[in-house]
Amino acid sequence: MVGELFELEMFGEGVERRYRKMRPEVEAMPWGSFDLGKLSPAAILAGRQGWTAAAFQEHRTGVACCMALRAMMEARAPVDLIALASRFPLDEMVHVELCARMAMELGGATALRHDPDHMLVEADPALPALLRASAMVTRFFCVGEALSIPLLRATWHAAVQPLPKAILGRIVKDEAAHGTFGFAFLDWALGKLDDDGVKFVAAEADRAIRFLQNTWTPRRESTVELPDETGDTLGWMRSQAYLALAERSLEDKVRAPLRAREIPITA
Ligand SMILES: [Fe+2]
Ligand SMILES: [Fe+2]
Repeated sequence: MVGELFELEMFGEGVERRYRKMRPEVEAMPWGSFDLGKLSPAAILAGRQGWTAAAFQEHRTGVACCMALRAMMEARAPVDLIALASRFPLDEMVHVELCARMAMELGGATALRHDPDHMLVEADPALPALLRASAMVTRFFCVGEALSIPLLRATWHAAVQPLPKAILGRIVKDEAAHGTFGFAFLDWALGKLDDDGVKFVAAEADRAIRFLQNTWTPRRESTVELPDETGDTLGWMRSQAYLALAERSLEDKVRAPLRAREIPITA
C-alpha cells in the first residue's frame, strides 16, 4: 500500500497543559454530547470518514501555512504581516484536533493514507524569495483559504447538533483572518513585482483555481442528494447547494479581489 497512515498522537503532561492554556476552547467544546441515536451504520461510517478527511485537510493546511511563512520571512515581508500569519499554524493544529476528536465521537477515525513527503507543491526553490512567497500565499491563501471561509460558514449554519456546531463555529472564527491575509500580502508584494512577476502570480492563481474546480467534478456529476440523516453537515456538504455556493464564492471571494488588483487571471 502506498503512503503512510494519517495517525495523530499527543505528547501529554506539561506540554499538553501549556497547549491547553494557549487554546482553552478545545476542552470547552461539548464533548460527549453527540447523539448517535437515530443514525444508520452507513451514516455513522460516512461521518467518521468525513471528519477524518477534515482533520487531514486541516493538517495539510498547517503545512501550507508553514511553507508560506518561511518564504515570507525569507522575502522579508513586513514584520506585522508575518507576525499575524505566525498564529495560523497553531490555529490549524487546533482544527486538526477538533476534527479528529469529532471523528472519535462518532466511533473513531477511518484509515487514511497520505504521502508526507509530497503534501503540497512547493514553489520552485530556484526562484527568488519574493516570488516563492507570492506563489504560495496566492495559492494557499488568496485561493484556498479565501474560498473555504464562505463554505465553512454555510456548513456551520447547516450544523444541527451542538458539538459539530461548536467545532465549526471555532474554525470559522479562526479562518476569518486566514482568508483576508493573502490579499494584504499581495497589496504589499505587488508593489515590488514587475510585469512578469504579476503574470507569474496570475498563473499560480489560475493553477490553484483549476485544481479546486477539478475537486468539485465528482460532486457535480453525482445526482444523488444525500438525506441529512448523518446528524451533522455531511449531507449539506455533498449537496448541489454547496456546489453552487462554491462557484459563487470563487467568483466573489477569489476572482473579484484578484482582478481588482489587476492580476490577469484566466481560470
Ligand atoms: Fe483550518
Ligand atoms: Fe486556515
